[in-house]
Amino acid sequence: MNEPHLAALKCPRCGKKLRFNGSLESDEKNGEIVCEKGHIWTVANGIPSLVHPPITEKDAKWIADYDKMAENYDELVLQYNDWLGIDLMKERENFHLFIPIEGPVRIIDVSIGTGANFMALYNQFKDQMGRFNLHGMDLSTGMLKVSNAKFTENKVTVSLTHGSVFNIPYQKNFFDIVLHSGGINTFSDIPGSLNEMLRIAKPGGLIIVVDEGLSPQKRETEEGKAIMKANALFAVKPPLEHIPEKAKDVEVTYVMNETFYQIVFKK
Ligand SMILES: C[S@@+](CC[C@H](N)C(=O)[O-])C[C@H]1O[C@@H](n2cnc3c(N)ncnc32)[C@H](O)[C@@H]1O
Ligand SMILES: [Zn+2]
Repeated sequence: MNEPHLAALKCPRCGKKLRFNGSLESDEKNGEIVCEKGHIWTVANGIPSLVHPPITEKDAKWIADYDKMAENYDELVLQYNDWLGIDLMKERENFHLFIPIEGPVRIIDVSIGTGANFMALYNQFKDQMGRFNLHGMDLSTGMLKVSNAKFTENKVTVSLTHGSVFNIPYQKNFFDIVLHSGGINTFSDIPGSLNEMLRIAKPGGLIIVVDEGLSPQKRETEEGKAIMKANALFAVKPPLEHIPEKAKDVEVTYVMNETFYQIVFKK
């Protein structure tokens, strides 16, 4: 891991800054980093592990499932294309609508999974990648392994961190865009996760949250009813009651043929 990645992080136990210690120097891949109070964290394959407090039993079950499906995840989600009448990768590419037309942009994909959102960004901005400072976090080491391999293969530079959305190990006021897709419906602490996403955004920064949930119109159709019957996640409504009070300009739209909600708000 490198100096800019380290500088973006914080100790998940005490919130203090982190530094390299004797066992790991900048640009090395394996060793330990330490905070100003002496809390020690491991780095493996360039990915620091900053999970604290230990995850609950319920979350651990989800993560074990994600670890297991990581290698096949991209293939599994392709089923959504035919079933929902969408092109998931093209839909992800719509993320470009939120990117300023010029200048540097710091983005984090919280729960990055297999890295599909940043690959979609790469498809749109191949010749401008130099202006992006990309970070990805996930609690599943299996997912991080898959996204790391994908980014390395495609020469997309992303700083990856093993961490939990309930205590994101990043500095406050850091990102222009905080993106989350696909996990929040099953998070055990939805308000906590949204508060954390808001905390790491810069003042004026954007938070974008996308997950399964049919639009009010689609719910009334025969197709919509069949989708919700086949997979109860699609019956979830956008968690607007849990958006932090400090959030500004909250907007909800429906994407992916009205089968996913998209909440966008500003800090
Ligand atoms: C359905 S996948 C979505 C992955 C990716 N964002 C996408 O759009 O394809 C949900 C992701 O959330 C991650 N996740 C679940 N609980 C988490 C937590 N507490 N903190 C961080 N990530 C978590 C999982 O490991 C998994 O990668
Ligand atoms: Zn510490």
